[in-house]
Amino acid sequence: MEISYSFLYTLLVLSLATISHLLFKKHKRKSKREAKLPPGSMGWPYIGQTLQLYSQDPNVFFATKQKKYGEIFKTHVLGCPCVMLTSPEAAKFVLVNQAHLFKPTYPRSKERMIGPWALFFHQGDYHARLRKLVQASLSLDTIRGLVSDIGAVVVSMFQAWDGHVLSTFHAMKKFSFDVGILIIFGGDLEESYKQELKENYFIVDKGYNSFPTSIPGTLYHKAVQARKRLRAILSEIMSGRRRKGAVRNDLLGCLMGSEDEMGGARLSDDQISDNVIGVLFAAQDTTASVLTWIFKFLHDDPKLLEAVKEEQMAIFEANGCGSQPLTWAQTRSMVLTHKVILESLRMASIISFTFREAVTDVEYKGYLIPKGWKVMPLFRNIHHNPEFFPDPQKFDPSRFMGSPKPNTFLPFGNGAHACPGNELAKLEILVVIHHLVTKYRLEIFGSHNEVQHSPFPVPKDGLLARLRSERSEVVVAAADDVPATEKI
Ligand code: HEM
Repeated sequence: MEISYSFLYTLLVLSLATISHLLFKKHKRKSKREAKLPPGSMGWPYIGQTLQLYSQDPNVFFATKQKKYGEIFKTHVLGCPCVMLTSPEAAKFVLVNQAHLFKPTYPRSKERMIGPWALFFHQGDYHARLRKLVQASLSLDTIRGLVSDIGAVVVSMFQAWDGHVLSTFHAMKKFSFDVGILIIFGGDLEESYKQELKENYFIVDKGYNSFPTSIPGTLYHKAVQARKRLRAILSEIMSGRRRKGAVRNDLLGCLMGSEDEMGGARLSDDQISDNVIGVLFAAQDTTASVLTWIFKFLHDDPKLLEAVKEEQMAIFEANGCGSQPLTWAQTRSMVLTHKVILESLRMASIISFTFREAVTDVEYKGYLIPKGWKVMPLFRNIHHNPEFFPDPQKFDPSRFMGSPKPNTFLPFGNGAHACPGNELAKLEILVVIHHLVTKYRLEIFGSHNEVQHSPFPVPKDGLLARLRSERSEVVVAAADDVPATEKI
């Protein structure tokens, strides 16, 4: 009897608890659904506001909306309903505090091209495992050993550029690809593999943003074929390493050697390949675009250039005018140059925004973000908000004398998916600037005040520029055939 009473009592309590939980849930769901959608226009049926977005500078589109609607607004672009967020708190809400309510989202055509196992498409345990491996091969301890290798890549790039007019962006893409190869395979990848990887990678790169179709001859179709060849080359490299049984601490070595903490399972070759290609993609256009902007910003501000040159010449002279290589400690002492990089990241904001997708109905500041909608924290709007960066259109590295307000400076994102390559990117840029200003003069051609999106914003034609070694200048000037607009 005693038992049945306590059993009934427990049952009653459990039932009441369940009913009140369900009622509460229903109420919660109702109250979320009652929250209104953010202000904003969804545009035309199906096409939404895609035409408005692409018929003008996308940054003007975002800035105009922010002015009209405030820090949160809705729109419909690229076939998806979206909520755009322009405040530091909102970016933190989506990327850090409530990141579990939002998942990474990319078009399927892009996911297919990079490979579905690449870490940026995932969340949870798999993402955490891959993230740890990628982070380890990009840590300060790892990259400090790469200063002279990166220096060697810069020296040979500038020697080949000396006296020629090139697109800065294209030169920097080749440079950041070479550094990517260094990080992934170490310094001793066979030249034939390097060439094959480069050839096929650049075909994939060309088709990545083209219209996805399986019609032979199109950029996308060629890219899909080249992606298959990349996979085959990576297989060969992995088999070679397994035959030799060598343990390596480059990224490929870390990925191949990783054992799952739970069951000890290794990553499959597909998982490894997708992440190798993913890191190459994440590293290349980003670093190349920022470097291109830095060339322009330095060119446009002769006083600043002189000050940067002074900082770098002191190091160059301490190294016997370049007879000894740049050291890690020296790269950490480039105070002004480092501020120039931060200000360039802010000004250019080459990643203007990122995408997530709400995995459930989410309420933010009384507004509903419905399940399945895309959510876009707009980094550029935050970086160009005068409240956080006074006189935001002015290029002023001194604004980085102190730290920016929390969550207002997000060139590398925030939270679990924030860029693990940020220190490497900054190191690459420091080494490039060191060699540029200590040994070369730069001439820029064409209308470099126009911006093109490829897909990140860069000056028109990738900033056509000619380098001239300070020493060979007199000889090269005699063969001059392109009118220089300005010089630094
Ligand atoms: C100036 C250059 C760079 C910029 C501005 C940049 C920016 C970013 C940003 C904003 C994200 C986060 C995207 C998001 O949350 O949706 C990101 C992620 C990532 N970046 Fe970078 N990046 C740069 C260079 C690099 C380099 C050099 C590497 C590697 C060698 C790299 C590897 C990655 C990877 C693997 C991710 C995905 C991380 C994850 O999903 O966990 N990036 N980057």
